[in-house]
Amino acid sequence: MTNRKDDHITQALHQNSLSNDFDRVRFVPEALARLNTKTIDTSRILFGRTFDSPVYINAMSGGSERSLVMNTKLAKLAAALNIPMASGSVSAAIKDPRWEESFTVIREHHPNGFVMANVGLSQTLEGAKKAIKLLKADALQVHLNAAQEIVMPEGDRDFSDWPQRLQTMVEQLDVPVIVKEVGFGLSRESLAFLSALGVQYVDVSGRGGTNFITIENARRRYPLDHFDDYGFSTVESLLEGKDSDLTLLASGGVRGAFDVVKAIALGAKMVGMSGFFLKMVHELSLEECIEKTQQLLQDIRMIMAILNVSNLDELAAKPLLLDASLQHFLSQRSR
Ligand SMILES: Cc1cc2nc3c(=O)[nH]c(=O)nc-3n(C[C@H](O)[C@H](O)[C@H](O)COP(=O)(O)O)c2cc1C
Repeated sequence: MTNRKDDHITQALHQNSLSNDFDRVRFVPEALARLNTKTIDTSRILFGRTFDSPVYINAMSGGSERSLVMNTKLAKLAAALNIPMASGSVSAAIKDPRWEESFTVIREHHPNGFVMANVGLSQTLEGAKKAIKLLKADALQVHLNAAQEIVMPEGDRDFSDWPQRLQTMVEQLDVPVIVKEVGFGLSRESLAFLSALGVQYVDVSGRGGTNFITIENARRRYPLDHFDDYGFSTVESLLEGKDSDLTLLASGGVRGAFDVVKAIALGAKMVGMSGFFLKMVHELSLEECIEKTQQLLQDIRMIMAILNVSNLDELAAKPLLLDASLQHFLSQRSR
Protein backbone atom coordinates (compact mmCIF):
# COMPACT_ATOMS: atom_id res chain seq x y z
CA MET A 1 0.00 0.00 0.00
CA THR A 2 1.34 3.45 -0.81
CA ASN A 3 1.67 6.05 1.92
CA ARG A 4 -0.93 8.84 1.55
CA LYS A 5 1.48 11.59 2.57
CA ASP A 6 3.98 10.44 -0.05
CA ASP A 7 1.20 10.38 -2.68
CA HIS A 8 0.33 13.97 -1.76
CA ILE A 9 3.95 15.11 -2.00
CA THR A 10 4.38 13.45 -5.40
CA GLN A 11 1.15 14.92 -6.76
CA ALA A 12 1.80 18.39 -5.32
CA LEU A 13 5.25 18.48 -6.89
CA HIS A 14 3.60 18.16 -10.29
CA GLN A 15 1.19 21.05 -9.74
CA ASN A 16 2.06 24.44 -11.09
CA SER A 17 0.35 27.73 -10.46
CA LEU A 18 1.23 29.80 -13.47
CA SER A 19 -1.42 32.46 -13.03
CA ASN A 20 -3.74 33.15 -10.14
CA ASP A 21 -5.72 35.96 -8.52
CA PHE A 22 -2.60 37.69 -7.18
CA ASP A 23 -2.01 38.68 -10.84
CA ARG A 24 -5.37 40.48 -10.75
CA VAL A 25 -4.26 42.86 -7.99
CA ARG A 26 -2.07 45.88 -8.76
CA PHE A 27 -0.41 48.66 -6.81
CA VAL A 28 -0.44 52.34 -7.69
CA PRO A 29 3.15 53.10 -8.81
CA GLU A 30 5.08 55.87 -7.07
CA ALA A 31 7.89 57.17 -9.25
CA LEU A 32 9.64 59.35 -6.69
CA ALA A 33 11.21 56.82 -4.33
CA ARG A 34 11.95 58.17 -0.85
CA LEU A 35 13.33 55.32 1.25
CA ASN A 36 16.64 53.60 1.90
CA THR A 37 16.11 49.83 1.50
CA LYS A 38 18.33 49.27 4.57
CA THR A 39 15.85 51.00 6.86
CA ILE A 40 12.78 49.07 5.74
CA ASP A 41 11.33 47.02 8.55
CA THR A 42 9.67 43.75 7.51
CA SER A 43 9.13 42.52 11.06
CA ARG A 44 5.80 41.45 12.46
CA ILE A 45 4.76 41.04 16.09
CA LEU A 46 2.24 38.25 16.54
CA PHE A 47 1.47 35.65 19.23
CA GLY A 48 3.68 37.68 21.57
CA ARG A 49 6.72 37.04 19.34
CA THR A 50 8.62 39.25 16.94
CA PHE A 51 9.29 37.72 13.54
CA ASP A 52 11.89 39.29 11.22
CA SER A 53 9.70 38.71 8.18
CA PRO A 54 6.03 37.88 7.62
CA VAL A 55 6.79 34.57 5.83
CA TYR A 56 6.29 31.09 7.30
CA ILE A 57 6.64 27.54 6.02
CA ASN A 58 3.13 26.17 5.99
CA ALA A 59 1.84 22.70 6.85
CA MET A 60 2.98 19.82 4.67
CA SER A 61 5.12 17.09 5.97
CA GLY A 62 5.35 14.22 8.46
CA GLY A 63 4.07 10.63 8.57
CA SER A 64 6.42 8.86 6.16
CA GLU A 65 10.13 8.18 5.63
CA ARG A 66 10.18 10.65 2.80
CA SER A 67 8.57 13.36 4.88
CA LEU A 68 11.04 12.75 7.72
CA VAL A 69 13.79 13.72 5.28
CA MET A 70 11.72 16.67 4.07
CA ASN A 71 10.88 17.96 7.56
CA THR A 72 14.54 17.71 8.56
CA LYS A 73 15.56 19.88 5.62
CA LEU A 74 12.67 22.33 6.06
CA ALA A 75 13.43 22.69 9.79
CA LYS A 76 17.12 23.35 9.10
CA LEU A 77 16.09 25.97 6.55
CA ALA A 78 13.60 27.53 8.99
CA ALA A 79 16.24 27.57 11.74
CA ALA A 80 18.90 29.13 9.50
CA LEU A 81 16.62 32.10 8.78
CA ASN A 82 14.54 31.99 11.95
CA ILE A 83 11.23 31.61 10.16
CA PRO A 84 8.17 29.95 11.68
CA MET A 85 7.29 26.48 10.48
CA ALA A 86 4.21 24.27 10.65
CA SER A 87 4.26 20.48 10.53
CA GLY A 88 1.88 18.48 8.40
CA SER A 89 -1.01 16.75 10.13
CA VAL A 90 0.29 14.99 13.26
CA SER A 91 -2.61 12.50 13.08
CA ALA A 92 -0.30 10.00 11.37
CA ALA A 93 1.93 9.89 14.49
CA ILE A 94 -1.03 9.86 16.88
CA LYS A 95 -2.32 6.76 15.06
CA ASP A 96 1.10 5.13 14.69
CA PRO A 97 4.03 6.13 16.98
CA ARG A 98 6.42 4.81 14.32
CA TRP A 99 6.00 8.20 12.63
CA GLU A 100 6.70 10.39 15.66
CA GLU A 101 10.28 11.05 14.62
CA SER A 102 9.15 12.51 11.29
CA PHE A 103 7.57 15.30 13.39
CA THR A 104 9.98 15.61 16.31
CA VAL A 105 12.83 16.38 13.89
CA ILE A 106 11.22 19.80 13.42
CA ARG A 107 11.74 20.83 17.05
CA GLU A 108 15.10 19.06 17.12
CA HIS A 109 16.45 21.20 14.27
CA HIS A 110 14.52 24.39 15.02
CA PRO A 111 14.92 24.40 18.83
CA ASN A 112 14.14 28.05 19.47
CA GLY A 113 11.87 28.70 16.50
CA PHE A 114 8.14 29.25 16.33
CA VAL A 115 6.76 25.80 15.54
CA MET A 116 3.13 25.04 14.77
CA ALA A 117 1.67 21.55 15.12
CA ASN A 118 -1.20 20.65 12.78
CA VAL A 119 -4.27 18.46 13.24
CA GLY A 120 -7.66 18.01 11.58
CA LEU A 121 -10.99 17.71 13.33
CA SER A 122 -10.94 13.93 13.22
CA GLN A 123 -8.85 14.57 16.36
CA THR A 124 -10.38 15.34 19.74
CA LEU A 125 -8.91 17.66 22.36
CA GLU A 126 -6.68 14.78 23.53
CA GLY A 127 -5.22 14.34 20.07
CA ALA A 128 -4.57 18.06 19.79
CA LYS A 129 -2.76 18.02 23.16
CA LYS A 130 -0.62 15.07 22.05
CA ALA A 131 0.33 16.88 18.83
CA ILE A 132 1.34 20.03 20.73
CA LYS A 133 3.35 18.02 23.24
CA LEU A 134 5.13 15.95 20.59
CA LEU A 135 6.41 19.05 18.77
CA LYS A 136 6.69 21.26 21.87
CA ALA A 137 4.61 23.51 19.64
CA ASP A 138 4.10 27.24 20.14
CA ALA A 139 0.74 27.17 18.34
CA LEU A 140 -1.69 24.67 16.87
CA GLN A 141 -3.01 24.79 13.33
CA VAL A 142 -6.39 23.09 12.93
CA HIS A 143 -7.15 22.35 9.31
CA LEU A 144 -10.60 22.43 7.73
CA ASN A 145 -10.41 20.15 4.70
CA ALA A 146 -13.94 18.86 4.10
CA ALA A 147 -13.68 19.24 0.31
CA GLN A 148 -10.46 17.21 0.32
CA GLU A 149 -11.95 14.51 2.57
CA ILE A 150 -14.96 14.14 0.28
CA VAL A 151 -12.81 13.55 -2.81
CA MET A 152 -10.30 11.40 -0.89
CA PRO A 153 -11.28 7.76 -1.50
CA GLU A 154 -10.66 6.83 2.17
CA GLY A 155 -11.67 10.27 3.51
CA ASP A 156 -13.96 11.22 6.41
CA ARG A 157 -17.67 11.34 5.69
CA ASP A 158 -19.10 12.59 8.99
CA PHE A 159 -18.33 16.20 9.90
CA SER A 160 -21.09 16.60 12.48
CA ASP A 161 -18.60 16.86 15.38
CA TRP A 162 -16.41 19.52 13.80
CA PRO A 163 -17.86 22.72 15.33
CA GLN A 164 -17.97 21.23 18.84
CA ARG A 165 -14.46 19.77 18.60
CA LEU A 166 -13.06 23.04 17.35
CA GLN A 167 -14.77 25.08 20.04
CA THR A 168 -13.42 22.73 22.73
CA MET A 169 -9.87 23.07 21.37
CA VAL A 170 -10.11 26.86 21.23
CA GLU A 171 -11.45 27.00 24.80
CA GLN A 172 -9.18 24.41 26.40
CA LEU A 173 -5.77 24.68 24.76
CA ASP A 174 -3.19 27.02 26.18
CA VAL A 175 -1.45 27.80 22.88
CA PRO A 176 -2.92 29.96 20.08
CA VAL A 177 -5.18 28.00 17.72
CA ILE A 178 -4.95 28.94 14.05
CA VAL A 179 -7.79 27.58 11.94
CA LYS A 180 -6.71 27.00 8.36
CA GLU A 181 -8.18 25.83 5.10
CA VAL A 182 -6.03 23.69 2.84
CA GLY A 183 -6.47 25.54 -0.45
CA PHE A 184 -10.17 26.37 -0.86
CA GLY A 185 -10.36 29.63 1.08
CA LEU A 186 -12.62 31.06 3.76
CA SER A 187 -15.82 32.94 3.00
CA ARG A 188 -17.33 35.73 5.08
CA GLU A 189 -19.89 33.19 6.33
CA SER A 190 -17.14 30.79 7.44
CA LEU A 191 -15.23 33.59 9.15
CA ALA A 192 -18.35 34.68 11.05
CA PHE A 193 -19.03 31.09 12.16
CA LEU A 194 -15.45 30.64 13.32
CA SER A 195 -15.51 33.94 15.17
CA ALA A 196 -18.71 32.90 16.97
CA LEU A 197 -16.92 29.73 18.14
CA GLY A 198 -14.23 31.88 19.75
CA VAL A 199 -11.57 31.48 17.05
CA GLN A 200 -9.13 34.42 16.84
CA TYR A 201 -6.61 33.40 14.18
CA VAL A 202 -7.27 32.04 10.70
CA ASP A 203 -5.12 31.20 7.72
CA VAL A 204 -7.48 31.62 4.75
CA SER A 205 -5.42 29.23 2.58
CA GLY A 206 -7.28 29.81 -0.64
CA ARG A 207 -7.29 28.61 -4.23
CA GLY A 208 -4.51 29.51 -6.59
CA GLY A 209 -1.75 27.07 -5.66
CA THR A 210 -1.77 23.49 -4.45
CA ASN A 211 -5.19 21.99 -5.18
CA PHE A 212 -6.20 18.98 -3.07
CA ILE A 213 -9.31 18.22 -5.11
CA THR A 214 -7.09 17.62 -8.12
CA ILE A 215 -4.62 15.68 -5.97
CA GLU A 216 -7.28 13.40 -4.46
CA ASN A 217 -8.96 12.96 -7.85
CA ALA A 218 -5.68 11.57 -9.17
CA ARG A 219 -5.87 8.94 -6.39
CA ARG A 220 -9.44 7.89 -7.30
CA ARG A 221 -10.43 5.17 -9.73
CA TYR A 222 -13.40 7.27 -10.88
CA PRO A 223 -12.61 10.99 -10.44
CA LEU A 224 -15.20 13.29 -8.96
CA ASP A 225 -15.29 15.41 -12.08
CA HIS A 226 -16.12 19.09 -12.58
CA PHE A 227 -15.21 19.94 -9.00
CA ASP A 228 -11.91 21.60 -9.77
CA ASP A 229 -13.13 25.19 -9.56
CA TYR A 230 -14.49 24.85 -6.03
CA GLY A 231 -13.44 27.40 -3.41
CA PHE A 232 -12.44 31.02 -3.00
CA SER A 233 -9.01 32.20 -4.03
CA THR A 234 -6.63 33.60 -1.43
CA VAL A 235 -7.25 37.10 -2.76
CA GLU A 236 -11.04 36.61 -2.66
CA SER A 237 -10.81 35.21 0.88
CA LEU A 238 -8.80 38.21 2.06
CA LEU A 239 -11.37 40.53 0.47
CA GLU A 240 -14.06 38.58 2.34
CA GLY A 241 -12.18 39.04 5.60
CA LYS A 242 -11.64 42.76 5.24
CA ASP A 243 -14.10 43.71 7.99
CA SER A 244 -13.69 40.57 10.06
CA ASP A 245 -12.63 40.78 13.70
CA LEU A 246 -10.30 37.80 13.17
CA THR A 247 -6.54 38.04 12.67
CA LEU A 248 -5.98 36.93 9.10
CA LEU A 249 -2.99 34.97 7.88
CA ALA A 250 -2.81 34.11 4.19
CA SER A 251 -1.62 31.18 2.14
CA GLY A 252 -2.54 29.42 -1.07
CA GLY A 253 -0.78 30.15 -4.34
CA VAL A 254 1.83 32.50 -2.92
CA ARG A 255 4.56 32.16 -5.54
CA GLY A 256 7.12 34.73 -4.48
CA ALA A 257 7.87 38.10 -2.90
CA PHE A 258 5.36 40.10 -4.93
CA ASP A 259 2.51 37.80 -3.86
CA VAL A 260 3.65 38.08 -0.22
CA VAL A 261 3.56 41.87 -0.47
CA LYS A 262 0.12 41.81 -2.11
CA ALA A 263 -1.25 39.48 0.59
CA ILE A 264 -0.07 41.87 3.32
CA ALA A 265 -1.61 44.81 1.44
CA LEU A 266 -4.86 42.82 1.30
CA GLY A 267 -4.90 42.49 5.08
CA ALA A 268 -2.86 39.40 5.96
CA LYS A 269 -0.63 39.70 9.02
CA MET A 270 1.63 36.85 7.93
CA VAL A 271 1.93 34.74 4.79
CA GLY A 272 2.41 30.99 4.51
CA MET A 273 3.95 29.11 1.60
CA SER A 274 3.80 25.36 1.03
CA GLY A 275 4.14 24.51 -2.66
CA PHE A 276 6.96 27.04 -2.99
CA PHE A 277 9.04 25.38 -0.23
CA LEU A 278 8.06 21.87 -1.31
CA LYS A 279 9.54 22.38 -4.76
CA MET A 280 12.53 24.22 -3.33
CA VAL A 281 13.60 21.45 -0.94
CA HIS A 282 12.99 18.87 -3.64
CA GLU A 283 15.15 20.62 -6.23
CA LEU A 284 17.89 22.41 -4.28
CA SER A 285 20.56 21.67 -1.68
CA LEU A 286 20.05 23.07 1.83
CA GLU A 287 22.58 25.83 1.11
CA GLU A 288 20.73 26.78 -2.07
CA CYS A 289 17.38 26.70 -0.23
CA ILE A 290 18.78 29.12 2.36
CA GLU A 291 20.12 31.38 -0.40
CA LYS A 292 16.85 31.34 -2.35
CA THR A 293 14.77 32.05 0.77
CA GLN A 294 17.13 34.88 1.76
CA GLN A 295 16.54 36.29 -1.70
CA LEU A 296 12.77 36.04 -1.20
CA LEU A 297 12.99 37.93 2.10
CA GLN A 298 15.27 40.53 0.54
CA ASP A 299 12.93 40.94 -2.44
CA ILE A 300 10.03 41.73 -0.08
CA ARG A 301 12.11 44.62 1.28
CA MET A 302 12.98 45.82 -2.26
CA ILE A 303 9.35 45.81 -3.38
CA MET A 304 8.37 47.72 -0.24
CA ALA A 305 11.00 50.34 -1.14
CA ILE A 306 9.47 51.10 -4.52
CA LEU A 307 6.05 51.27 -2.90
CA ASN A 308 7.42 53.83 -0.41
CA VAL A 309 6.38 51.85 2.64
CA SER A 310 8.79 51.50 5.53
CA ASN A 311 6.93 48.78 7.46
CA LEU A 312 4.16 46.19 7.09
CA ASP A 313 1.48 48.42 8.63
CA GLU A 314 2.15 51.11 6.02
CA LEU A 315 2.00 48.40 3.36
CA ALA A 316 -1.42 47.28 4.65
CA ALA A 317 -2.73 50.81 4.14
CA LYS A 318 -1.70 51.02 0.45
CA PRO A 319 -4.49 51.40 -2.11
CA LEU A 320 -4.93 48.51 -4.53
CA LEU A 321 -6.44 48.15 -7.99
CA LEU A 322 -8.51 45.04 -8.65
CA ASP A 323 -9.25 43.75 -12.12
CA ALA A 324 -12.76 43.30 -13.56
CA SER A 325 -13.18 39.70 -12.34
CA LEU A 326 -12.38 40.68 -8.74
CA GLN A 327 -14.61 43.76 -9.02
CA HIS A 328 -17.36 41.46 -10.21
CA PHE A 329 -16.72 39.16 -7.23
CA LEU A 330 -16.99 42.14 -4.89
CA SER A 331 -20.24 43.32 -6.43
CA GLN A 332 -21.76 39.83 -6.16
CA ARG A 333 -20.68 39.61 -2.55
CA SER A 334 -21.66 43.13 -1.58
CA ARG A 335 -24.04 43.34 1.36
C1 LIG B 1 2.46 18.00 0.12
C2 LIG B 1 1.48 18.83 0.91
C3 LIG B 1 0.96 18.33 2.08
C4 LIG B 1 0.07 19.10 2.84
N1 LIG B 1 -0.37 18.62 4.04
C5 LIG B 1 -1.12 19.42 4.85
C6 LIG B 1 -1.47 18.99 6.16
O1 LIG B 1 -1.09 17.92 6.61
N2 LIG B 1 -2.23 19.84 6.91
C7 LIG B 1 -2.65 21.06 6.43
O2 LIG B 1 -3.30 21.82 7.15
N3 LIG B 1 -2.35 21.47 5.19
C8 LIG B 1 -1.58 20.68 4.40
N4 LIG B 1 -1.23 21.13 3.15
C9 LIG B 1 -1.85 22.37 2.64
C10 LIG B 1 -0.96 23.57 2.80
O3 LIG B 1 -0.65 23.85 4.15
C11 LIG B 1 -1.59 24.81 2.15
O4 LIG B 1 -2.77 25.12 2.85
C12 LIG B 1 -1.93 24.58 0.68
O5 LIG B 1 -0.95 23.75 0.07
C13 LIG B 1 -1.99 25.88 -0.12
O6 LIG B 1 -0.75 26.55 -0.12
P1 LIG B 1 0.28 26.51 -1.38
O7 LIG B 1 -0.48 26.93 -2.58
O8 LIG B 1 1.38 27.44 -0.97
O9 LIG B 1 0.79 25.11 -1.50
C14 LIG B 1 -0.33 20.38 2.39
C15 LIG B 1 0.22 20.88 1.20
C16 LIG B 1 1.11 20.14 0.47
C17 LIG B 1 1.69 20.71 -0.79
